Amino acid sequence: MEWTKEQRYRRIEEVSSEEMKELTEKVNSCQWRQTFHIQPPTGLLNDPNGFSYYNGEYHLFYQWFPLGPVHGLKYWYHTKSKDLVHWENVGIGIQPDTEFDSHGAYSGSAIEYGGKLHILYTGNTRDENWIRHPYQCLAIMGEDGVVKKSDQPVIAEVPAGYTDHFRDPKVWEEEGILYTIIGAQRENETGCVLLYSSSDFRNWKLEGEIQTELEQFGYMWECPDYFELDNQGVLIFSPQGLEAEGDCYQNIYQSGYLLGGKLAVSNRLFTHGEFIELDRGFDFYAPQTMQAPDGRRILVGWMGLPEIEYPTDRNSWAHCLTLPRELSVRDGKLIQQPVKELQALRGQQSKAADTINNQTKVYTGFSGTAYEMICEFENQDAVEFGLELRAGKQEKTVIKYDALQKKIVLDRTASGEEVGMLYGTTRKCSLDARKIKFHVFVDTSSVEIFINDGEEVFTSRIFPRNDSEEIRFFAREGRVSFQAVKWECE
Ligand code: FRU
Repeated sequence: MEWTKEQRYRRIEEVSSEEMKELTEKVNSCQWRQTFHIQPPTGLLNDPNGFSYYNGEYHLFYQWFPLGPVHGLKYWYHTKSKDLVHWENVGIGIQPDTEFDSHGAYSGSAIEYGGKLHILYTGNTRDENWIRHPYQCLAIMGEDGVVKKSDQPVIAEVPAGYTDHFRDPKVWEEEGILYTIIGAQRENETGCVLLYSSSDFRNWKLEGEIQTELEQFGYMWECPDYFELDNQGVLIFSPQGLEAEGDCYQNIYQSGYLLGGKLAVSNRLFTHGEFIELDRGFDFYAPQTMQAPDGRRILVGWMGLPEIEYPTDRNSWAHCLTLPRELSVRDGKLIQQPVKELQALRGQQSKAADTINNQTKVYTGFSGTAYEMICEFENQDAVEFGLELRAGKQEKTVIKYDALQKKIVLDRTASGEEVGMLYGTTRKCSLDARKIKFHVFVDTSSVEIFINDGEEVFTSRIFPRNDSEEIRFFAREGRVSFQAVKWECE
């Protein structure tokens, strides 16, 4: 169904409770509703927003269009958690209800400041000619959980030299000074990031563009994030407009990082290594990080991509967020590991260990539609080996190591209902190792696979039948030994 502009900009406040009830029932009857991931109650979820810790709880908002599986009038939906595992749906966090955010409360971030949660976000507006005018807006949440908007935007103008693609402020505080970076497009239609500073959250001074070595790298950089980890600077962003290159940049848009020296605020110089994709799977975009009270840097991404239809659209909802991942630096690379709190989901356990030789095998207890599994392979001479997840008569999602090419391969050719076919059905990345460890989280319609303790991650939605439940272990043209442990997720 084509959605008209009117339908996309319809407000949830205008919808009757009967209509909302009907919509909710349609969503809840979907066979692909997740069990332990953050997903929208109805409609479409996209970027994680305002990920923060405040008043003894984690707060995680997301971009939300309540009324269907399309990008329409965006609200912020609010969820919170004491443990990063069990999330409570709080409700609408920010409504697009002022002249400065009339066409969407777009992405942004939050930190505690002066005892209150300070939220910076982009107010998206369109004039009568449908020309976009972005404003950077401030909203403040107190201990009572009520979010109050500031009357005026805190950055009202796009600076000279940049287009109206100017959004997604990510804020942090350093030695008493506030900084924010904003994703931008230069007038020559290349992407970049601008840095602002402030001493009070209300008055922001443009410091200028962050100087990277990527002058021509896509036409827009969305959702930037900057932080320091292990004495190094990390700049994350989601560039649009990169061409596929070998195994890289296979999705419609990318998300990755530059690891380098600390950002010198005086001249905004950022010296860095190459751009590395954060995730090698099919569905990952616009991640955001926060610092936990114990100092850990934690990342959550949108498990989805813009401009692609998903099978859940039929049930009037789309997308979910990834599980939270802890970041660290190892050998010049960002390492991503599922946060340790997720062990709280572990229920009934099964174990298996075997050596398989040119065969595919199943084991007692190894099946399901919502589980965590760790599987370590070694002593192989097989040409390839790995796992078939959510496998049934006709279906399987394959994660394997191709020992000839020295590549990890995720194959969703036979995962179930098709999605994003224009962008292919396999994803690969190089990995040269003798031991291969897959740390897998399977939910009703997703897989997140952490490879060799977080060196790489493959995140993807899959749309199998409910009865495609098997976990199969395989080795081709040779042998491999493995040890596996699996927990039901409860
Ligand atoms: C990224 C993005 C952001 C924008 C938001 C709107 O997915 O396009 O740049 O703020 O989504 O929902």
